[in-house]
Amino acid sequence: MIAIGSDHAGYGLKTGIIEYLSSKGLEYKDFGACDGKNPVDYPDYGKTVAEAVGSGEFEKGIIICGTGIGISIAANKVPGIRAALCTDSYMAKMSREHNNANILALGGRVIGLGLALDIVETWLNASFAGGKHTARVKKINEMDEKYLKK
Ligand code: RB5
Repeated sequence: MIAIGSDHAGYGLKTGIIEYLSSKGLEYKDFGACDGKNPVDYPDYGKTVAEAVGSGEFEKGIIICGTGIGISIAANKVPGIRAALCTDSYMAKMSREHNNANILALGGRVIGLGLALDIVETWLNASFAGGKHTARVKKINEMDEKYLKK
């Protein structure tokens, strides 16, 4: 199950991605924003999707703002989240294989729908490679534990 959310600047791309997920029979929940007309704050949507994934309720998340930067910064504040901002399919593949990214971040003002769908498909179909990458991702996860204790 995929959690998806965007601010107003990512709304158009989110709509196209939701159409793609539906066409593939992939289950998702849309956490808003509900339209692209009224400006909203990207941290609210990054947080909501990240909490849905961080809690274990959702396996993966997709978040979109204008650049993908703000919403990924916000999502990465939630413990257990590894949100990867990707602008091409190679980054999407590597973010799963090497970083075990559990949230994909996209920029609705940066890339078009065709590229975005290729990135989404690549990201959803790629898997964590394990091996030497396991210890590296563990070091990231240990930072959550270290700073949560404070
Ligand atoms: C909204 O104008 C814009 O700042 C936001 O979508 C995002 O790009 C922030 O990083």
